[in-house]
Amino acid sequence: MRITMKHATSPLNQLWTALNRLPRVALGQFPTPLDEAPRLGKTLGGPRIFIKRDDLSGLAFGGNKTRMFEYVLGYVIQKTKHDCIIAGAGVQSNYCRQLSAACAKLNIPLHLMLRKVRPQDGRKLEGSYLIDVLCGAKVEIIDGDWTIQRKRIVACAKKLRTEGRNPYIARAGSNQHLWLYAAAYVHCFAELWEQLAERGIQADALYMTSSDTTQAGALVGAKFLKAKFPIYGIDTVIFGGDSVKVFVQIARDTEKHLGLKAGVGRSDVHTTDAFLGAGYGQPTPEGLEAIKLLARTEGILCDPVYTGKGLACLVADIRKGKWRKDQTVIFLHTGGAPALFAYADSLGL
Ligand SMILES: Cc1ncc(COP(=O)(O)O)c(C=O)c1O
Repeated sequence: MRITMKHATSPLNQLWTALNRLPRVALGQFPTPLDEAPRLGKTLGGPRIFIKRDDLSGLAFGGNKTRMFEYVLGYVIQKTKHDCIIAGAGVQSNYCRQLSAACAKLNIPLHLMLRKVRPQDGRKLEGSYLIDVLCGAKVEIIDGDWTIQRKRIVACAKKLRTEGRNPYIARAGSNQHLWLYAAAYVHCFAELWEQLAERGIQADALYMTSSDTTQAGALVGAKFLKAKFPIYGIDTVIFGGDSVKVFVQIARDTEKHLGLKAGVGRSDVHTTDAFLGAGYGQPTPEGLEAIKLLARTEGILCDPVYTGKGLACLVADIRKGKWRKDQTVIFLHTGGAPALFAYADSLGL
């Protein structure tokens, strides 16, 4: 009995209790596996490498958004009266692909405003764009910048309202409910924490591609559970401004809503934009090399927009000798591989 009481108040238990209080809808396959990547590790001649496989989270090819939509759409369905969703991002957006699949599964009408990132975007029904349409989303391709996209979203919302609908505008430049997205990565960190403990793995670092909510959530989980290893985030979007402040703000907001005192501060945030290259959605030689390396050593697929660039950072750090052979690093694979089909020409195969 005493043991049960002690367990009930452990930080991990407090964290699960806080997460379990949130509205949620089941969309994916959890926990995602934690797989060792022995051939990648051997080829690089560095530390042991494990990959947390959120690319296998399910829902139209998986990725980090599956977890996020379990919380965000759980909230929309259970706590609001919205009856359709509008979202906007790039033509090959993983966010919109997974939202399309989630909305199909939950029978929610979805309107997408997809902005061209490269001149060829939207010409062919391919990659994530193909999946959006296949899952029944109504797609409008925008040939313009964020401001034009935003105007189209506002116009779409206005039109839907005149038709008697009540649209929920998902992200698309607004900071609405970012903490719910981050909560999903508090969840992921707790899951990873349990897997590491069960298998007796001592991690020395966790790498992930993130520009905001994935890393912010993982930071809350790590700080609350007093993890001893750093989290390295690779930013492949760049919203501009003080990005560390943004991570801290989202983390604190998440702590507040979850009722957890983790105390994430600026010194907890390690973020780099050194692997972005020419810009969002523009492949880099290091990213493409990392994609090929992982595919040819482990048969695991990354993408040129997000995870390839994140993996490139880990590869570069190992080659620089940042990690010893007796150390262990983890790469959180956040998905994105369907974009490979739209970027085939860039791969130089
Ligand atoms: C495959 C993939 N990885 C990582 C991210 C980063 O997510 P966030 O910036 O919300 O942390 C995204 C965002 O769209 C993504 O699609």
